[in-house]
Amino acid sequence: MLQKLAAEYTVGPSQNAILRRMKIRHLTPLDKILVGANNALRTVATPAGRPARVNPSENIIDADMDSRQKAHAAGLMRVNHAGEVAAQALYQGHATVARDKDIEAQMKHAADEEFDHLAWCEQRIKELGYEPSRLSPLWYAGAFAIGAASGVLGDKWSLGFIAETEKQVCSHLDSHLEHLPVEDVKSRAIVEQMRDEEEEHGEKAIDAGAAELPRPVIRLMRATAKVMTKTAYWV
Ligand SMILES: [Fe+2]
Ligand SMILES: [Fe+2]
Repeated sequence: MLQKLAAEYTVGPSQNAILRRMKIRHLTPLDKILVGANNALRTVATPAGRPARVNPSENIIDADMDSRQKAHAAGLMRVNHAGEVAAQALYQGHATVARDKDIEAQMKHAADEEFDHLAWCEQRIKELGYEPSRLSPLWYAGAFAIGAASGVLGDKWSLGFIAETEKQVCSHLDSHLEHLPVEDVKSRAIVEQMRDEEEEHGEKAIDAGAAELPRPVIRLMRATAKVMTKTAYWV
């Protein structure tokens, strides 16, 4: 129901892009809550809003794959889609509580790119004949809370959290590039571009002053990501 309702409101450019175009720089707390709620709906809805950039797999001809290969590729892309739902929530959560305006803008820019990743993954899952994870609202809510909570501790911790998240996402995408069927060049094109951009997000977070996270926090993040990836492959 939530997803169906949201789908009616999820076309066109992102809220961040609209606000930038309108040169709206200062939002009241209520504005921020409304923008955040709108973004949450836009993220968990299927179909997601239109991506701002062309899908990197658009001009690639789909290869013949058997049903087992398609199911495996769709499972992996479903995991990637769930990761992008979480990334969207993390960046929005961090941006909501960021103290430095430049860092807030950097996070919103990354969130726009993550939204393209989200839409590309969804397009690919559907081309393969499957649907994204039914637990998207759960991934969003959990990641938003973690993003906002670490952001409250201060921008350097928020950036540290992003840098570590992007590092883990890159190694995770590398493993998907190994495990996707060799024939599935369309999924590979999407994952390769995502990987390059995740690396850039992580580097920018480090350049902006990311703190190094304590080992137990890193371990906890890995364990949480494992639960999400294992579940989203199937559900
Ligand atoms: Fe991403
Ligand atoms: Fe990223």
